Amino acid sequence: MDRIHIQGGTPLKGTITIGGAKNAALPLMAASLLTEGTLSLSNLPHLVDISTMAKLLGELGVDISMDGDATGGGHVGRVFRLTAGDLSETTAPYDLVRKMRASVLVLGPLLARAGRARVSLPGGCAIGTRPVDLHLKALEQLGAEIELTEGYIEARAEKGLTGARVVFPMVTVGGTENLLMAACLAKGETVLSNAAREPEVADLAHCLVAMGAKIDGIGTDTLTIQGVDALSGADYSVVPDRIETGTYAIAAAITGGALTIKGARADLLESVFKVLVSAGVDITETQDGLHIARTNGPLKGADMMTEPYPGFPTDMQAQVMTLMAVAQGASMITETIFENRFMHVPELCRMGADINVHGSSAIVRGVESLSGAQVMATDLRASVSLILAGLAAEGETVINRVYHLDRGYERLEEKLSACGANIRRMAE
Ligand code: UD1
Repeated sequence: MDRIHIQGGTPLKGTITIGGAKNAALPLMAASLLTEGTLSLSNLPHLVDISTMAKLLGELGVDISMDGDATGGGHVGRVFRLTAGDLSETTAPYDLVRKMRASVLVLGPLLARAGRARVSLPGGCAIGTRPVDLHLKALEQLGAEIELTEGYIEARAEKGLTGARVVFPMVTVGGTENLLMAACLAKGETVLSNAAREPEVADLAHCLVAMGAKIDGIGTDTLTIQGVDALSGADYSVVPDRIETGTYAIAAAITGGALTIKGARADLLESVFKVLVSAGVDITETQDGLHIARTNGPLKGADMMTEPYPGFPTDMQAQVMTLMAVAQGASMITETIFENRFMHVPELCRMGADINVHGSSAIVRGVESLSGAQVMATDLRASVSLILAGLAAEGETVINRVYHLDRGYERLEEKLSACGANIRRMAE
């Protein structure tokens, strides 16, 4: 397994280009199952999760051709042309689903188009149990018959799905996406209330509209879908990754550097930037992105609580905690989305951070500086928080088990070292 070595202490300076959002790209790829036409997706990031989804769709009979790539100096993004001509296979096997929970996003589209789907139940994961009960209950409301057997979700709707009013008891991003896709081909009207408002959900909805779907309320918590008989192919470009953007903004702030973040959209990160500005980070919008710098003295602690969009994203919690670990004063960070998302805390403490967890809140008392250490990456966002800690720490940090990073950060070492970071990957 690869390890990343970082010699900390260099302020980052330069330009980093942001790729397409992984969490938008995955449902968009699954949407290709809804049509026999060709869905052409551009600005796809080059990540392991994208390859896993491509492999799963390939097994379901989707023909995928690819051009463009993300090697070399600039980011070119990738273009995938996905054609689900004939859905002969409707099983998403355990081996692929266990690698990536988002595989469950094929359930709604398969059921809507083929009238059946067999999808392995995703197990627990490092950040909590993460069930899919809300996806299943909502699909049942659209007329699906669902059984759980031998670790698989067996779903049937031989005569097709029928529109219904679905009220999600809690906000679920994946649940909203699965239902949105299914409802596009259901008979009649579906209303999804308490729907997730994440920009990635809106991106999916806009792509579905380009494919011929009828959806009202995009970007709000009530989505109204009028089912249509068939969808067609479309050309669509994936929204920029707001979590990658926020992560590099923190890299600039924590090293006392200045980064231009090209292709970033500030409007998708308002809650994060509010916290960063109150901590003393300078953020300016530029013509093609953002400029992030820390020029006016030490960072100050700030409190925050994770919430569904437009609240503070859980996927930025670990990174902001790392920043607060070296800010003056105390910060209280509360996690309300996932029950076990503080696994970076003991690792940060091994680097000298002063953090105490009480239930779903962590009290972070800022320290003067962190010191390099051997640490272990546990999940995607925890891994990158350790990279940020390593960039700021005195001495060498070695991050083990970095395969998580490759699921969500494209060419991370390359992007950081181009801005002066002393970072290298070592194969075991
Ligand atoms: C998505 C994102 C992930 C992000 C999360 C929250 C993708 C591929 N992943 O994950 O990066 O951290 O949104 O913003 O887009 N829940 C249930 N039952 C369900 C579904 C969810 O209890 O059927 C719970 C979950 O355990 C969790 C909460 O609802 O506590 C939110 O989960 P959800 O929004 O569904 O997250 P994902 O779609 O899995």
